Amino acid sequence: MSDPRSIGIFDSGVGGLTVVRAVLDLVPGEPVLYFGDTARAPYGPRAVDEIRAFAREVAAYLLGRDVKMLVVACNAIESNAIEDLSERANVPLVGVIEPGVRAALRATRNGRVGVIGTEATIASGAYDRAVAAENGGVELRSAACPAFVPHVERGDTTSPELMSAARGYLAPMREAGVDTLILGCTHYPLLSGLLQRVMGPDVVLVSSAEETAKDVYAGLLDGGLLRDDASPPEHEFLCSGDPGSFRALAARFLGPEAAGVRAQSVQPAPVSER
Ligand code: DGL
Repeated sequence: MSDPRSIGIFDSGVGGLTVVRAVLDLVPGEPVLYFGDTARAPYGPRAVDEIRAFAREVAAYLLGRDVKMLVVACNAIESNAIEDLSERANVPLVGVIEPGVRAALRATRNGRVGVIGTEATIASGAYDRAVAAENGGVELRSAACPAFVPHVERGDTTSPELMSAARGYLAPMREAGVDTLILGCTHYPLLSGLLQRVMGPDVVLVSSAEETAKDVYAGLLDGGLLRDDASPPEHEFLCSGDPGSFRALAARFLGPEAAGVRAQSVQPAPVSER
């Protein structure tokens, strides 16, 4: 049996492309329909109700395009809107938080783990709950890093301003002696060089992308949803903002598959609360 439908993957902007990259590495035969809500990014500073409303709209759009799985490649959305989305999704729903926590708990040696994310993610307490549910003995420190996403959305991953913001945000993590740092925002793996430099070489940086991709593969396999076809899949990359700058960033962050990026601007319709 072969399911030719696309995997729907979404984020507030370009950060979810880190998850797309990992998914394409594990299941290269699968078509991806990506949506980055670039016109409304960042979500991190927004109110919970607004994040939920945007998430409903984008999910409804992707479900309307008949995707076979929905990957929430955004911690801010997952931590604030996952219940809402799971009530509405009639296909398997895969998130990034549990996979990241799983990888971090495997990596830590001293039981001191840090998580960095947007304001909305950190304020939600989702990581505290996920870590406590897995291993109550692990000490979790968290820090919101609001300056990061706007830099990445502009394509800046190395500037001195970013470095100095990172030093400020991460100082308490270093003082606390965390040996593992969860990148609790899908934009942050694009800052790995800078973050590793600030945290020092011995700290393990955990990007949830690879671990999430394993869940995507397992979900497709278990659900009988894999595409069994030797022809190359056709991907589609959509955004709500300027398609030109999205295409340029996708080419940089995604690599070879970006050659097939047909970025076009789409505005998902509002969806009523239920
Ligand atoms: N990439 C997103 C996340 O994982 C969010 C960024 C934002 O829009 O603030 O949280």
